[in-house]
Amino acid sequence: MISQKTIQDIFDTAKVEDIVGDYVDLRKRGVNLLGLCPFHNEKTPSFTVSPAKNIYKCFGCGQGGGPIQFLMEHDSMTYPEALRNLAVRYGIEIEEDESNEKNAEERQLIDSLYIINNYALDFYKKTLFETAEGKSVGLSYFKERGFNQATIEKFGLGITFNSPDALTKSAVSNSYNIELLKKLGLTSKHGRDFFRNRVMFPIHHVNGKVIGFAGRILKPDKKAPKYLNSPETEIYHKSNVLYASHLAKGPMRKKDECILVEGYTDVISLHQAGIENVVASSGTSLTVGQIKLIRRYTQNIKILYDGDAAGIKAALRGLDLVLQQDLNVKVVLLPEGHDPDSYLKEVGSTAFETFIDRQAKDFILFKTDLLLKETENDPIKRTGLVKDIVSSIALIPDPIKRSVYIQQCSQLLEMSEQILISALNKDVSEVLQKKRKDKEREERRASADFPTDAPPEGDTTDPRPEVPSRAADNYQEMHIVKLLMNDGDKYYNEEDKVTVAEFILGNIEDIIDEFDNPVYQQIVKEYHASLINDKQLALSYFVNHKNKEIAKLAVNLSSSQFEMSENWKKLWDIELQTQPIPDENYVTDGMHALLHFKFRKIMKMLNRNKLLLKDIPSGDKDQLMNIINKHQQLTDLRNEIAAKLKLVIIR
Ligand code: GTP
Ligand code: MN
Repeated sequence: MISQKTIQDIFDTAKVEDIVGDYVDLRKRGVNLLGLCPFHNEKTPSFTVSPAKNIYKCFGCGQGGGPIQFLMEHDSMTYPEALRNLAVRYGIEIEEDESNEKNAEERQLIDSLYIINNYALDFYKKTLFETAEGKSVGLSYFKERGFNQATIEKFGLGITFNSPDALTKSAVSNSYNIELLKKLGLTSKHGRDFFRNRVMFPIHHVNGKVIGFAGRILKPDKKAPKYLNSPETEIYHKSNVLYASHLAKGPMRKKDECILVEGYTDVISLHQAGIENVVASSGTSLTVGQIKLIRRYTQNIKILYDGDAAGIKAALRGLDLVLQQDLNVKVVLLPEGHDPDSYLKEVGSTAFETFIDRQAKDFILFKTDLLLKETENDPIKRTGLVKDIVSSIALIPDPIKRSVYIQQCSQLLEMSEQILISALNKDVSEVLQKKRKDKEREERRASADFPTDAPPEGDTTDPRPEVPSRAADNYQEMHIVKLLMNDGDKYYNEEDKVTVAEFILGNIEDIIDEFDNPVYQQIVKEYHASLINDKQLALSYFVNHKNKEIAKLAVNLSSSQFEMSENWKKLWDIELQTQPIPDENYVTDGMHALLHFKFRKIMKMLNRNKLLLKDIPSGDKDQLMNIINKHQQLTDLRNEIAAKLKLVIIR
């Protein structure tokens, strides 16, 4: 692990304008720099770099972060990769934190696995290009399939023949560890080559490293599987991998669309024809990990299905997952008997592109159509169909999209919108309940692990509009978090040398678990843990956070004008004292944020306490007294805060 000190050095040294400047032509605009966003297509620049804050932000597509995020997003580096890259660039010596022996060992193992995979990659390529059999049998196989030399090289294709242990022997004689060859699935447990007589497709991580292989049988054989795959390893997590994502990521972002096919050969053919925003799920249905990978580049996904897919209905069911992740899904059914590879060969790339554009149908409408044809006039089946469709629509997080679908489906199904809406509402509330439970479980898990474990990456928040009682404190929580991130390390009180973070966190220690929003909760707890070690956290710590959501939040809360809640003034009748940035008086602001937060949380605790009254077995005086005492304490506290806030409390 890179030591905390090195990480801090990197934070302090790396300049966002240097890093971004490598890729974007930046022009001075006031105190900022402006350029064309490298993350989306634009003609007028809306990509802003603030050297003062060391962040970039695109006001067109919303991308934003610090030097580390830029490398992670733009070059698909992992967090440690970005740190190491910056260290090299700025000549910062990396101090490794070897206190964690296991980590160092694991990193070494991972490095070795990559090295061996590269050796195998090379071996399969050499077998293709440099052996007599490779040149005759291998190259003519590819030629027959229509793959040209450039394509073979671009995808790193290779071949293996019938030797029992050619690769294994060669690797071992070059001192590669046989146990690791076995771990990677390149060598069987009996010491033979696992892949034999196969066309070899290397599988890459989105960052371009080879993490595994697929081998397609050379000659059809009823007894052997058509494709063999490497097993899961420390570097190959199948559920997070899409074939060719390392080649398709740029084009996916540019075209703002991902085309998803089933097969390796489909991907390769389409790329060769100039359609490069294509990846493959490799025959299985999509996983959440794969969807999240796609969503880093685009929200639009077009899925091409083979024309004879008998299992198309089952495949559609798998798509509910995609809806849930708020992607826009279109599907294309290819003509009977074709897969993308064969159809492209038959009609050529222009006709192919026209076809998929014309045939692309919105997933929900496609599903409705398909099921409708099946049920014909059978009223019982009809009922099942309505349930099926509505349950898919219920998964879509965006309520506006949901209502558009309801409208369209009511026409297709010739049913009144009202009937569909009431069915939908029932489903939506079930989905919400399930989501809420999942989230609570996640929160419990996250806080149990804290602070040694890294937070789960990716989205933990539910984009769905939340039920009012939970959303109610969002504003107060955000205000606390904004103050902590931007000004936590500044002095709240110069004389006593108390920082803003110490003041705020010291005052909410007792209710620190009351945050509703798990991201805010994590930020606050992380800051709190750091304070215990007498360490203040600066904005750069959050902007460069390895949890993307936190990093993004830090950028947004520091680059946009902080929006005041409409209700704030109305409800509390307080004149806000927030000063424009740079803000130098944290006393008023900090105090208000704190008091409002505490007030909301105490009201909630009061309500919870009241509810407990219902469940006491009659006659349990002790418990009753407990609750009454707690009620009194909380009420006192509430009144105290209210007095400070000059609030009038009714009742
Ligand atoms: P070609 O027949 O060479 O054009 O390959 P294809 O990709 O068109 O094959 P097919 O349509 O039969 O299968 C589509 C995808 O499903 C493949 O690319 C593989 O990812 C996967 N697949 C097919 N058969 C097998 C198999 O036997 N084992 C495994 N693990 N995956 C398979
Ligand atoms: Mn095929």
